[in-house]
Amino acid sequence: MDVKEEIKRRRTFAIISHPDAGKTTLTEKLLLFGGAIQVAGAVKSNKIKHSTTSDFMEIEKQRGISVATSVMGFEYNNLKINILDTPGHQDFAEDTFRTLTAVDSVIVVIDVAKGVETQTEKLVEVCRRRDTPVIVFINKLDREGKDGFALLDEIELKLKIKVRPLSWPIGMGPDFKGVYSMYKKELILFNPHGKQEDEDIIRITDLDDDELEKRVGERLANELREEVNMVEEIYDPFEKEKYLTGQLSPVFFGSAINNFGVKELLDCFTDIAPYPQPLPAEEREIDPFEKKFTGFVFKIHANIDPNHRNRIAFVRICSGLFERNKNYFHIRSGKKLKFSSPTSFMASKKEVVDAAYPGDIVGLHDSGKFRIGDTLSEGEQLHFKGIPSFSPELFKYIENADPMKSKQLAKGIDQLMDEGVAQLFTQVTNNRRIIGTVGALQFEVIQYRLKHEYGASCQYTPVNLNKACWLSSENESDLQEFVKKKQRHIALDKHGNTVFLAESAWMLKMAQEDFPKVNFHFTSEF
Ligand code: G4P
Repeated sequence: MDVKEEIKRRRTFAIISHPDAGKTTLTEKLLLFGGAIQVAGAVKSNKIKHSTTSDFMEIEKQRGISVATSVMGFEYNNLKINILDTPGHQDFAEDTFRTLTAVDSVIVVIDVAKGVETQTEKLVEVCRRRDTPVIVFINKLDREGKDGFALLDEIELKLKIKVRPLSWPIGMGPDFKGVYSMYKKELILFNPHGKQEDEDIIRITDLDDDELEKRVGERLANELREEVNMVEEIYDPFEKEKYLTGQLSPVFFGSAINNFGVKELLDCFTDIAPYPQPLPAEEREIDPFEKKFTGFVFKIHANIDPNHRNRIAFVRICSGLFERNKNYFHIRSGKKLKFSSPTSFMASKKEVVDAAYPGDIVGLHDSGKFRIGDTLSEGEQLHFKGIPSFSPELFKYIENADPMKSKQLAKGIDQLMDEGVAQLFTQVTNNRRIIGTVGALQFEVIQYRLKHEYGASCQYTPVNLNKACWLSSENESDLQEFVKKKQRHIALDKHGNTVFLAESAWMLKMAQEDFPKVNFHFTSEF
């Protein structure tokens, strides 16, 4: 198979949801269909179940699990499907945002009873910004939940996406009889706690067919007819083009735990989901079919064994063929690097690969050279875009608690920031270092990892900060004037960019009003 065909048969996507909606369960069922795993329970939930901030064993376990399940590749219908895993805990949301830069589409899982939850809103917002195609799976139909139409309204309103149901549930909870697939014009009957068999699928091209009554009873048959009519009236017909440009999201209903509606979802996904798409770099857009290799690091994972402080950098291949033992150019350092044991991920197995194609993810051993967002190429100066840092919300001063280990502390902080665990800001007036995070858990993780991996001790001191934002201006002199006036509130981020540290929302508002020529940004990329 040539490179072009290999690219066209790749589907790289992520499943996203609010914790507990059923992401892990759905992932597992998809892997079962793909034959990548044989038994249920093989994919461990990578979430920290109870969000205690001191359960370090949980954190370590989670890190161990998430290396194994970072990417799960499997073959299905002659397609190579790569599922990129995202952390379940909301304190690690930034990891998820970054993973979303490495996928071509997503499946959003929504709990039928809970509807759209906060984390789903945030994640879909990131997808919307990138026009990522979205398929929605409404899960847990074996339980009582919200009315289908009300739920679709809620999705359109809160997620700000247009939807088009391609399946419709027949009953719900104890009454749940199955779904009617409008995509395939098939009735699929629910067989609780059993395996969905081929005989559970009845082809009904005309919903007026008496067969429907026989299968689900008169009341539910009439309800289904009425509701499917309503769907046809309310929603525009499904158009693949609109889905591919992120303008329309097909919706499926099912029950992941019962493996119900999952095959229909997967079959539609393989029909419509995009193969690797062009990705934007600062210099130009990179087409996957270009001959020369390019890729970027979207995730770095430290080894959980402190004796082997190697890290794995996860690289999304964007164009060309990636080959083992070939020299590639690491743009940030200007150095040539060669990788003797790049790994690929099939199910939860890692193996060394000789070649990888656009859409694939390879794991590269890293002794500390890589940073999130780094680009690799065959020589061209390129910088992939869309991997911003987000304005953190929690801040603490970080100080050395063991003067004998200041070198270790500096190195530890440096590497943890490269991994994207948190952000470091250095105040310009006094050189004090501030750690900014999106979740409280990261402070504990940093302290723990500095101790266990670098032998360094740190302590935190509270700092009264509400927001950090990046600055820009048309005129350098306007920016300089602002920096001079607000010096006490100015810091540099890890890359030397100027950041304004606002103590309160009011202070930020005043600064914006007083300095209209200065732009305040809430992500590092603008
Ligand atoms: P997550 O990764 O999105 O956080 O969710 P996960 O798959 O871990 O599922 C969360 C809980 O919801 C699990 O129960 C899981 O068994 C259950 N679940 C998933 N799909 C369905 C479904 O279709 N119907 C019903 N009724 N439940 C479903 P748990 O009790 O939290 O965990 P476990 O002890 O079962 O693992």
